[in-house]
Amino acid sequence: NLRGAIFDLDGVLTDTAEYHYRAWQRLADEEELPFDRQANEALRGISRRESLLKIVGDRTYSAAQLEEMMERKNRYYQEFIESMSPSDLLPGVRSLLTELRQQQIKIAIASASKNARTVIEKLNITELVDAIADGYSVERPKPAPDLFLYAANQLKLPPAACVVFEDATAGIEAALAAGMWSVGLGPVERVGNAHVVLPNFADITWAGILSKLNQHLS
Ligand code: G6P
Ligand code: MG
Repeated sequence: NLRGAIFDLDGVLTDTAEYHYRAWQRLADEEELPFDRQANEALRGISRRESLLKIVGDRTYSAAQLEEMMERKNRYYQEFIESMSPSDLLPGVRSLLTELRQQQIKIAIASASKNARTVIEKLNITELVDAIADGYSVERPKPAPDLFLYAANQLKLPPAACVVFEDATAGIEAALAAGMWSVGLGPVERVGNAHVVLPNFADITWAGILSKLNQHLS
C-alpha cells in the first residue's frame, strides 16, 4: 500500500556525496588533519557539524574556529555544485521519478543538507517533487527519524505508506526508526539493513521495486 516515495539527495539522486567528500578532504589537508576516503565513510549522510567533529577528533579548536571551518568547507562544496546541471542526475533517476508521478505516487526529497534546494534546482527536478525537507526543516539529524517524518507529514501520508531511498547507514536507520520501508542504494556493508538493496537506479522501475519489497513481505 505504498503511496509515497521519499528520496535522500546526496548520493541517491546525484553524486554530490563525492563533492562533500572532496570539500572535507581539502579542508582536512589545509588543517593537516588525517582524513581519507575510508574515513569519509563515517561521514556519509550526517550533518555538517557532526562531520567536522569526526574529522577534528581530539584536536582542540575554539567554537569560532569550528564555525570558520564549517563555512570554509561549505564554500568549497558550493564551488562544486555551482556547475551542476540536469546531466548530473544519476542514471535511471529521471525515468523513475516520471514513472512515480504517472502512478500517482507522491514524491519527497529529504536531505540533511542546507544546500539541497540549490542542488534540486540545478538538477531541474523541482517540478517533479511534491515536498522538500532539507537541513533547515528539523533539529535532530539522521539517524533520528525526524526528517523523514517531516517529509511524510508534508505529503500527508502515514509513515507505513512511504518508502525511503538512501545511500547512508544513518539514513537507513532513520527510515527504519520512522517505521517506513527502505531501499538502500549501494554496497551491503553500507545499506545492508534496508529491506531491499539496489546497486543504483539504472533500469529500475517502480514495479520492480514493489516486487522486491513484496518478496521481503512473503
Ligand atoms: C547530507 C550529506 C552529508 C552532509 C549533510 C549536510 O546529509 O549526505 O554529507 O554533511 O547533508 O550538508 P550541508 O550541505 O548542509 O553541509
Ligand atoms: Mg546521502
